[in-house]
Amino acid sequence: QEANVGVVGLAAMGASLARNLAHHGNRVAVYNRTYKRTEAFMQEYGSEGVFIPSQTVKEFVESLSVPRTAIIMVKAGEPTDQVIKELAEYMEQGDIIVDGGNAYFEDTIRREKEMAKLGIHFVGMGVSGGEEGALNGPSMMPGGSDWSWNTLKPILESIAAKAPDGEPCVAHIGPNGAGHFVKMVHNGIEYADMQLIAESYDLMRRGLGMAPEQIGDVFAQWNETELDSYLVEITAEVLRKRDEKTGKPLVDVIVDHAGMKGTGTWTVQTALSLGVPVTGIAEAVFARGLSDQTQLREQAQKDPFNGPDASLALDDEAKQAFIELIRQALYASKIVAYAQGFNEIAEAGKVYGWDIDMAQLARIWRAGCIIRAKFLNRISDAFESGAADVSLLFAPYFKQALENCEAAWRKVIATAVEHGIPTPVFSSSLAYFDGLRAKRLPAALIQGQRDLFGAHTYQRVDEPGAFHTLWAEPGQKEIQVSH
Ligand code: 6PG
Repeated sequence: QEANVGVVGLAAMGASLARNLAHHGNRVAVYNRTYKRTEAFMQEYGSEGVFIPSQTVKEFVESLSVPRTAIIMVKAGEPTDQVIKELAEYMEQGDIIVDGGNAYFEDTIRREKEMAKLGIHFVGMGVSGGEEGALNGPSMMPGGSDWSWNTLKPILESIAAKAPDGEPCVAHIGPNGAGHFVKMVHNGIEYADMQLIAESYDLMRRGLGMAPEQIGDVFAQWNETELDSYLVEITAEVLRKRDEKTGKPLVDVIVDHAGMKGTGTWTVQTALSLGVPVTGIAEAVFARGLSDQTQLREQAQKDPFNGPDASLALDDEAKQAFIELIRQALYASKIVAYAQGFNEIAEAGKVYGWDIDMAQLARIWRAGCIIRAKFLNRISDAFESGAADVSLLFAPYFKQALENCEAAWRKVIATAVEHGIPTPVFSSSLAYFDGLRAKRLPAALIQGQRDLFGAHTYQRVDEPGAFHTLWAEPGQKEIQVSH
């Protein structure tokens, strides 16, 4: 009996995906570097469907029907290259290798080229939703050739999460690295979203003196509003959880150093290369970075700086009112963070020649993935109608939302600053918004400075061409250096 699809790598994500495939009637070949894990997998889940286990890569490839489809779920980087090399040794022209890990999209572009030389279709595919999603329905973002999409489509649609309207959360994003690119930005947005939630929590915890459980209740309520999303929902769950050992709120016994595996950093690095400001995502990455600066933070506790008291000392009524302001600030900042992420995708689309359908992308993020949220419906509508062509911020629905939240947004940030509670993503998002609002930016002054110290030239508002002022010469005459 032959398998119609195979999974390489049976760690949490791979095992869940293999089971999901089997639950949907696929005959699934499974292989893991250490056979022990394959045996354990078979013992635990073997009865859930048709699995064909292999001890070697050769056997694994041979157990697949032609054209062969193998999905790799191993660590990004070197381990992925290793598996691709081994598979390619036994695969033939027309076979498909899907990399479902969080690969860096430039690696995917390189791998696709290498495999194309052998006639093998290489598909970099973003998979979101964690272990639970992989098992019960992830959101998937495959890149690669149209040809491979035709083969993959029925398989992936069967295992994908379904949006509330029944649409499967998978779509062909574009050629080569497009899928992994959008998954990377998805994760960047995830970072910004999580940091915004964390800033809101900090304001309630230290600013309003609320207990974690009470704050959990607030997030649960927020989940009934425009903020309805997976991340807000799980925040309520985390904050309501008590530590079994000590009986304290779990959040209080967790070390306050945030980890990261790279996708957020890549999103920012790539945005810098593309020249797209993703200030919210960047601040979110830096906030995790600061949390992990052990020596700096210890020194700041040993030799503390003077500063204001974090407590706002509000009565109950004022507290309730301030909580609503935080909610609005969170919503406005979140809109900016998403808009910036989509801008990065649009720019990359131009540079890398991907024709990414943004409305469709927003639609496949509506279920299964970590940033799934009700307002992605609004985002897809905005792109669909063309109203978000320049930026999501100009789509009437979002423009209105920003205007509605604006006063609260400013008030929350001003209060946070006064009380010494850091709100890097709130603040940078508002700064971006105000930067857009400004008719003239102080960038003109920077151009003047650059021209003075480095003859970098400037453009004039009233005449085309590049100009340089002879700063060092008497009279400081201006000359035109190009037209
Ligand atoms: C997802 C997630 C997932 C990622 C984690 C960890 O979409 O399912 O984005 O792919 O592995 O969120 O990311 P960090 O460890 O960098 O926080």
